[in-house]
Amino acid sequence: MRTQVVIVGAGPSGLLLGQLLSVHGIANVILEQRSPEYVLDRIRAGVIEKWAADLLDDAGAGARMHREGLVHQGIEISFDGRRHRVDFDALVGKSVIVYGQAEITRDLMEARAAVGAETYYEIADVSLQLDQPGRSSVRYGRHGRVQEIQCDFIAGCDGFHGISRKSIPEHVLNCYERVYPFGWLGILVDQPPVSPELIYVNHERGFALCSMRSPTRSRLYLQCRLDDHIEDWPDARFYEELSRRLDPHAVGALHRGASIEKSIAPLRSFVAEPMRYGNLFLAGDAAHIVPPTGAKGLNLAASDVYYLWQALLEYYRERSAAGLEAYSSQALRRVWKAERFSWWMTSILHCFPESSGFDQKMQRAELEYLLSSRAAMTALAENYVGLPY
Ligand code: APR
Ligand code: PHB
Repeated sequence: MRTQVVIVGAGPSGLLLGQLLSVHGIANVILEQRSPEYVLDRIRAGVIEKWAADLLDDAGAGARMHREGLVHQGIEISFDGRRHRVDFDALVGKSVIVYGQAEITRDLMEARAAVGAETYYEIADVSLQLDQPGRSSVRYGRHGRVQEIQCDFIAGCDGFHGISRKSIPEHVLNCYERVYPFGWLGILVDQPPVSPELIYVNHERGFALCSMRSPTRSRLYLQCRLDDHIEDWPDARFYEELSRRLDPHAVGALHRGASIEKSIAPLRSFVAEPMRYGNLFLAGDAAHIVPPTGAKGLNLAASDVYYLWQALLEYYRERSAAGLEAYSSQALRRVWKAERFSWWMTSILHCFPESSGFDQKMQRAELEYLLSSRAAMTALAENYVGLPY
């Protein structure tokens, strides 16, 4: 079997790249180790930058997002028990769309089915053959048999734990990492949001976030310890702790419904450089991870996909490899800016167990400056709505 691009992984990166390529006449096959149901069940952040929304439109998969997504023109930051609004519209004239990542995945799956492109789910033992310049292939197990696809290029869209990054020789890769000393305990609940916009909370007991998926579904988070277990957090304890961290007005609006999902996620910053090895191109979580503060994960995956899609179009239309040569450095410039923003948002909003008195004073000064300076708020807004591609 032969195709132009083999995409490993059917998460948002792989599906979006596949759809953009298919719509522009470039043949591709997606290989995914899990089932479609498993992929759809993963719960992740749901804030979409305008750039990522435009890309979904380019892929022909944006209609439902525009219909059902919630346009947010700001966020609130709660500090010292008071809420402060960051008005994106007034500061930078832009907004974001709140729309769950699982919904985006579903829309992309449907769009892919509509164009008749192939996705092989529940495949096993993917291995990449990268040794020969100009000739690549991917082997995998399907229905108990080993299969092989020849291709021009491989897109490694298989997330942080995938095999694509691990297929690059160690001496070629430089990895940069920070693991944070806390996690996020999140619940999903079928109750209206506490407030029309997201509330990011700095509190001495730890960070909290009131987010949402729709006018009737809330997503709520608490900073927790890395050794916490969800069994130790029945809903009543979750709501009690959240109420301690929220301002009285938000507590009054908190509906304590039964959670329909509960999980703990660790926080990590990670970047692997370069994002290309021969004919293999990494995109999304395969190459980098951001802590969720600022909701940049999906949006960064989208900008990688944009650069890679443009480079592949240039290659097939103009027979020029210039875009492919530039891919890694171009994508990484934007990756590091989003890494910086996510790290900074994390650092100003969380309680760090090891922090000294000086560190705590610095955090207070940072927040007091931010919330009293239009220039500083503009910088936050500019990054939150997304830096241009
Ligand atoms: N073979 C085939 N598929 C694999 C393999 C493998 N060896 N390893 C992992 N996968 C699949 C996973 O099952 C998953 O469906 O690759 C997919 C990777 O998807 P994500 O982890 O969602 O990564 P990505 O598509 O880059 O998404 C980026 O989604 O995970 C969030 O925070 C992330 O918001 C960001 C965005
Ligand atoms: C979410 O809704 O899950 C969410 C929103 C904003 C974030 C992180 C997560 O910064």
